[in-house]
Amino acid sequence: MKIIDSIVEMQGVADSLRGLGKRIALVPTMGYFHEGHLNLMRIGRTLGDYLAVSLYVNPTQFAPTEDFEAYPRDFERDRKMAEEVGVDAIFCPDSTQMYPEGYQTYVSVMETTKNLCGRSRPHFFRGVTTVCTKLFHSVKPHVAVFGKKDYQQYVTICRMVRDLDMGIEIVGAPITREPSGLAMSSRNVYLRPEEMESALSLSRSLVEAKGMYEKGERESRVILDRVRGIIERHPHAKIDYAQICHAATMDDIPVIGEQAVLALAVWVGKTRLIDNHVFGEPLDIDHEDSNRGGR
Ligand code: PAJ
Repeated sequence: MKIIDSIVEMQGVADSLRGLGKRIALVPTMGYFHEGHLNLMRIGRTLGDYLAVSLYVNPTQFAPTEDFEAYPRDFERDRKMAEEVGVDAIFCPDSTQMYPEGYQTYVSVMETTKNLCGRSRPHFFRGVTTVCTKLFHSVKPHVAVFGKKDYQQYVTICRMVRDLDMGIEIVGAPITREPSGLAMSSRNVYLRPEEMESALSLSRSLVEAKGMYEKGERESRVILDRVRGIIERHPHAKIDYAQICHAATMDDIPVIGEQAVLALAVWVGKTRLIDNHVFGEPLDIDHEDSNRGGR
């Protein structure tokens, strides 16, 4: 596995691979890998001849008040984990290359970013779409894999790639969870033991919502009332948002139709967790007590 820290070198490698007719797959990440990242890499491995993983903690998607400095980092651990899943190269540029002095060019997707995380983190998506554009220009992938855990991010990247004719196939990967149901996240390391029960309220409420949907409930308000009730009874949990949205536009919908996603962002102590469920899709969580506190 190669470690490539120069944009120019990465572009050269990409050009020669393309010249040889090789298919390049990219998994963009901010590192501190967990099984969710590794599953994206495993999918990427099946989609291309050459698998690159980018590892860059992108400052432009963090607000000054957020956890950019504290974001967990462990390059050696990440390197070993990526090597074990058969990654060909880790692309890890530094900020002097990514955002050199005088930098002033940004990419914004206007509509899919307005709701949900776009409301609570106004700077966030502009940073994500800008850095992904730059990563795409460095790695020149044919296909890139994104996790549906960050569902709005996935939809926004799909929109950007289509709108700007980037010619990259975007593949969405299912959410990887702990056996407890907790969606894996690099930020889970911030959770304190006494906060774990509160953290589990997200996936528990999704299981409950799925059950209601399967019994025929289609009114967003009814499902959201139940979801909020489950989360709010946990002492360390504070809802940032709990909304049911159209799964492609991200607009709120009062009635669940063909494409709908229940999206959650919840502060658990000082950690902001997100999770979601697309109605009609699988949600593989096996809580023997998933209904606990649901009624
Ligand atoms: P990061 O949080 O490191 O996530 C990298 C990729 O892993 C994203 O596509 C994310 O959706 C996916 N992922 C994280 N946890 C997952 C889980 N439990 N199940 C499935 N996929 C999961 O998302 C980012 O980095 C950044 O915003 C980035 C796109 C790299 C731009 O900086």
